[in-house]
Amino acid sequence: MSHRRIEARPAPDSVICRLDEIAADLGTYRLTWFEWDGPYRVVVIRRGDRVYAYRNQCPHALAHLDHPPGDFFSLDRRHLECSFHGARFRIADGHCIAGPCKGRGLARFPIRVEDGLILVAAVEPPAVAGPASRASRRKSRKEMS
Ligand code: FES
Repeated sequence: MSHRRIEARPAPDSVICRLDEIAADLGTYRLTWFEWDGPYRVVVIRRGDRVYAYRNQCPHALAHLDHPPGDFFSLDRRHLECSFHGARFRIADGHCIAGPCKGRGLARFPIRVEDGLILVAAVEPPAVAGPASRASRRKSRKEMS
């Protein structure tokens, strides 16, 4: 679990960190910078060869998910879990499957992995996951059972 504070939103193609800096078994790397309305927090998560990045901001009350810092996962480590009111999010797509913001999702932060480096893929504001499709809701129910 590493954390780095930077001056401003990183430019496209800038390096966030090396892939091997994040443990393969749900290791995380946090990045924070300040924008006009306050801190912008990103969490990068590695699961095996897959890497995911989300804005570290719960869609329920806009709190950061980890409290204490770096504590992102449910006890069974199957989901991201907001430490404030317990919303659970799928790691693979940030979709909320349980809790007060069920059906919404974490904002993705655009990244790509290249030559062992995790890079910023774009500067556009990340899209917020919309309402779940029927197939997605079915999958969520299955995951929760
Ligand atoms: S702020 Fe995350 S569940 Fe309420």
